[in-house]
Amino acid sequence: MINPAHPPTAEEVNRKLVEQYTEIATLAGGLAHEIKNPLSTIGLNMELLAEDFTDPQTPRDKRAAAKIAVVQQECRRLQDLLDNFLNFAKVRTVRFEASDLNEEVRRVVEFFRPKAQEAGIELVCYLDPELPSVVLDRESFHGALINLVLNAEQAMPEGGQLMVRTGTIASGVALELIDTGAGMDEKTAGQIFEAFFSTKPGGSGLGLPTVRKIVEAHGGRIAVESEPGRGTKFTITLPLPPRLTAPVA
Ligand SMILES: Nc1ncnc2c1ncn2[C@@H]1O[C@H](COP(=O)(O)OP(=O)(O)O)[C@@H](O)[C@H]1O
Ligand SMILES: [Mg+2]
Repeated sequence: MINPAHPPTAEEVNRKLVEQYTEIATLAGGLAHEIKNPLSTIGLNMELLAEDFTDPQTPRDKRAAAKIAVVQQECRRLQDLLDNFLNFAKVRTVRFEASDLNEEVRRVVEFFRPKAQEAGIELVCYLDPELPSVVLDRESFHGALINLVLNAEQAMPEGGQLMVRTGTIASGVALELIDTGAGMDEKTAGQIFEAFFSTKPGGSGLGLPTVRKIVEAHGGRIAVESEPGRGTKFTITLPLPPRLTAPVA
């Protein structure tokens, strides 16, 4: 509308944006589903075809077997990409409940511990015992933490240290994940929250956009600081539930 009598309020603009986003996400999710079905048929037939070539004798059969393997690998890559995308775009109902952030962090760290040991990654936790409780959709928040921890692992192929810290700040609580991995230059760090941005071969580039979406759905923020060759720090800040932010005078 041109020159509306009442310019839209920030809330109206926000609601409109959410509506538009939801529509696009629903369409894109539908498209991804449409692609998934024929893709799984292709994958299945490739598997059957591969079985016919498990023991190739002639050069012609050997060439065919190699090509089948390539198609199978690319099928799997597309399937992963679609799964990641559906996970990113999915509009699911959230269940917010008062939660102990330290407990959520512990859960992820314990899940990751065996893998870290194998990868030569030392896990260090400093969890503030006085941390006030926050409101979390535990399932999605858990997914966000897993994404960050996996990225840290992938940034430390030679091993290193991952420190996880929680603490109270003026605006709520803060969670830091600090790794001693490859780090990023400024240009890369400026792009990591863009959908499909990845520096990894076969990377989906949807991990961090999903993390940011989840953190922001909690009214929180995520920031990154990084230095090539030294490591990376991700900081998530979450607000306190309104009734806890300020004591009533
Ligand atoms: N802890 C980290 N250390 C260094 N680089 C990172 C880290 N986390 C993310 N990145 C960079 O951000 C990019 C995007 O991450 P992400 O969205 O999770 O997608 P993906 O892991 O599929 O590449 C990665 O490809 C990598 O370049
Ligand atoms: Mg990732």
